[in-house]
Amino acid sequence: MDKLVISGGNELKGTIKVSGAKNAILPLMAASLLTEGWHQFENVPQLRDIRTFCTLLDYMGAEVDCSETLRINTSDVNRLEAPYDLVKTMRASVLVLGPLVARFKKARVSLPGGCAIGARPINLHIKGLEALGVDIQLRHGYVEAEAKKLVGNHIYLDLVTVTGTENLMMAATLAEGTTVLENVAKEPEVVDLANYLNSLGAKIDGAGSHIITIEGVKELNTPKPYRVIPDRIEAGTLLVAAGITGGEVTITNCIPSHLESIIHKLQETGMTFDIGDNWVTARSADQILSTDVKTLPFPGFPTDMQAQFMALMCLGNGTSVITEQIFENRFMHVSELRRLGADISIDGRTAVVKGVKELLGAKVMATDLRASASLVLAGLAAKGITEVSRVYHLDRGYDRLEKKLSALGAKIERTKE
Ligand code: EPZ
Repeated sequence: MDKLVISGGNELKGTIKVSGAKNAILPLMAASLLTEGWHQFENVPQLRDIRTFCTLLDYMGAEVDCSETLRINTSDVNRLEAPYDLVKTMRASVLVLGPLVARFKKARVSLPGGCAIGARPINLHIKGLEALGVDIQLRHGYVEAEAKKLVGNHIYLDLVTVTGTENLMMAATLAEGTTVLENVAKEPEVVDLANYLNSLGAKIDGAGSHIITIEGVKELNTPKPYRVIPDRIEAGTLLVAAGITGGEVTITNCIPSHLESIIHKLQETGMTFDIGDNWVTARSADQILSTDVKTLPFPGFPTDMQAQFMALMCLGNGTSVITEQIFENRFMHVSELRRLGADISIDGRTAVVKGVKELLGAKVMATDLRASASLVLAGLAAKGITEVSRVYHLDRGYDRLEKKLSALGAKIERTKE
């Protein structure tokens, strides 16, 4: 197992390119199950989750070329199942449910089970598919879905769910008649999926708003090459890296409008920004100003940036109240940040962060993807050496982060545990 060894205290300076978005490419890979032919995706990040999804598609009988230009052909898919051993390592596997039942009228997908950050049930995915006429049985830890045909319906989602919206949007694409999905997720990754499906001949309107309307079609067209959107969470993480190290960093290949809530919140901490068409320059504050934040669905402040923002607030000039409103257990990084000398108290879904003068390097352990990013950021600012173990969590969602940080002047290296 790998770990990262960080010698902190170096200001980050320079320009770095943002990779494609994990949470965009995963649903696009699932969408490839909706129609035959070679699906080709560009700007694909090198991530462990993508390799897992390639393994899943290969298991189903697809032809997969898992490289920077990702190519998938699902013409010969013959196993309509997502097995527990793959789903347990990556919950996003549940995204094959909608496309499989839409195209093949049958699917067997392992229930994802619990996760470090919360229970994360898929009841809304199931409820939505049932509303489209799918018969769903939960047996032996699997969702067994079957349908003679899918028929459009008006579905109101009790909660804003990203992959729930994506699964139902894909299922409704091949349903008979019109489907209206209300109270849906507005995340840029949902819009990216809708754009790809429409490029295949789907009839989807309203992605990016809280109501999506899908006019079902009999079949989709042959795929055309598609470029995945940049990763706004990786971009946000790099902006915080500039702020927490007292540096100045320019990120390129990003979409600034996807970063508005993150940039606004960082401006409240005293950071300053120049913003271009596809780049952002972030300058650190002379003194980090403590400020409060609540996580919300897009366009609110993303829960996937909460841990990274908390790392910055550890060095704030006062007290910051951080409220996690999306997941019930997303403070696993707190006890590790305390090992670096942070002063944080938790009360349910609220964390109170009292800023300290400095953090001191220590051995810490990653517990989930974004928690590991926050420990790396804190290690960049801490005096002395920080060792972050279990970085396989980080590799799930960051494309060679330590290489990018080194290119900006960080003293960070990957070694074996
Ligand atoms: C997506 O997860 C992202 N993953 C997550 O990113 C992200 O944190 C999350 O959206 C919120 O933005 C991918 O896109 C692959 P949800 P998802 O369904 O879709 C509850 C990362 O770090 N809920 O929007 O699984 C759920 O428990 C990951 O990259 C139900 O109760 O999240 C949560 O409290 C982590 N029933 C809330 O809704 C359901 O059927 C939002 O979850 C579905 C969700």
